[in-house]
Amino acid sequence: MKDHSQGPTQPPTGESPGIAPSAAEKRPPYALRRADQSDLGDVIRVVSEAFGHPYDPKLVEVYEKMFSPGATWLATDDEAVVGSAAGAELRLALPGGRETTGWGLTWVGVAPTHRRQGILRSLMTRHLEQGRAQGLPLGLLFAAESSIYGRFGYGAATHYASYELSRRDADLRDDLSLPAADYRVDLLSLDQARARLPDAWERLRLERVGELSRPDWVWADWFFELEQDAARANAALFIAACSSHGKCIEGFTAYYLEENWERGYPEHTLQVREVVGSPPARFRLWSYLLQLDLVGTLAVQSAPLDEPLRWMLRDPRRLRTKRTADGLYVRLFDVPKALAQRAYRGEGRIVLEVEDPLLPEVGGLFELRVENGGTECRRTSPEPDLWLSAEALGAVYLGGVSFSVLAQAGRIRELRPQALARADSLFLWSPAPWCATVF
Ligand SMILES: CC(C)(COP(=O)(O)OP(=O)(O)OC[C@H]1O[C@@H](n2cnc3c(N)ncnc32)[C@H](O)[C@@H]1OP(=O)(O)O)[C@@H](O)C(=O)NCCC(=O)NCCS
Repeated sequence: MKDHSQGPTQPPTGESPGIAPSAAEKRPPYALRRADQSDLGDVIRVVSEAFGHPYDPKLVEVYEKMFSPGATWLATDDEAVVGSAAGAELRLALPGGRETTGWGLTWVGVAPTHRRQGILRSLMTRHLEQGRAQGLPLGLLFAAESSIYGRFGYGAATHYASYELSRRDADLRDDLSLPAADYRVDLLSLDQARARLPDAWERLRLERVGELSRPDWVWADWFFELEQDAARANAALFIAACSSHGKCIEGFTAYYLEENWERGYPEHTLQVREVVGSPPARFRLWSYLLQLDLVGTLAVQSAPLDEPLRWMLRDPRRLRTKRTADGLYVRLFDVPKALAQRAYRGEGRIVLEVEDPLLPEVGGLFELRVENGGTECRRTSPEPDLWLSAEALGAVYLGGVSFSVLAQAGRIRELRPQALARADSLFLWSPAPWCATVF
């Protein structure tokens, strides 16, 4: 395990502290400050540069919806913005139909000219302080690379898979008992989708543990990215909504067709961003997508690891998993509060020793009791059952990976017999956590 006993680079206190140069690195000090409204263009520029994207002025319109000056931290060099990290509150679906508010991190970028000089670490210090000061129990992010955020106590709590299926192999079994006939699919214009999906999402997002709320800025980004992807493929973006007897939207999907006439006949690729909603609505939407004309291959960009589509097919092996990767990362700021907010399977008691090298005061010994229909978690002193890092706690928090697997990977230590089995029987959750809302 990496030794973080020195803690993070601690900038001096004050609104615009310099990042102290370490004697070894002799790096220049960069000022840290909160962004104001006039910084939006610079933030987009520095993040675009960091990701190697062209600067797209349309992004200003998209991102000014989320840009919350007080929640965005900047690093500057001689007034020029060279690093950014933005915070935003998002609601997270927890096991048991519950939810909590997390402190999301996005728009993280450091100018390529200023990388590896401690700027991200300093921005993270401010971001974490702010989330904790707001009384939020946990932090949330999507990582560009999975090697970056473990050192800050974030663990991969959801995973996703990308699937591919040849249209020829897409026959559904005929003994499936879901009531697809009661559900209808309608195509929405983009204006209709913009007007109707946000309300629908508020009803649907708790269907899946690990899913997030979608404030205006997330929707703006969702449409922007999808429209860009479709435009790159010279295709139109379609939004199909599923409802039962013409009532409320119970599920939806977004897709576009990449044309392919190379062999003289149509073998288009149907690019599906996500299929979300209630189980019957998702079933109906899959049936709809699988029978679209002109399609050679169905490519699903993000779906759960335990996607039921596999079990609907006559020939399940034909659904190829193209890729699996980490999705939403979770970092606990307040262990007793976060652990008491989710539901558990069955009843039991477990004492966790959480080591948090970055924020030692967040770690400690915690007793979780789930009994008589209630859940309680408090700091305690008895002998722990299990030892784990803050990063591992973030990974197991939503029940997507077991304590046992992380123990087998050398990331959790069992200190009392049967403790892993007890923790797994409380924490593991099905269906697997999944987050289609990338922010
Ligand atoms: C990733 C990025 C923000 C890092 O910024 P930075 O200022 O160079 O990072 P720091 O110098 O503060 O590094 C902090 C720590 O993270 C590590 N780190 C930084 N970038 C890393 C990467 N891409 N992969 C693995 N480790 C990384 C550093 O080695 C350092 O480790 P240590 O302090 O534990 O020894 C920057 O390189 C960047 O903008 N990259 C492209 C865009 C991107 O990936 N953004 C993140 C979006 S989630």
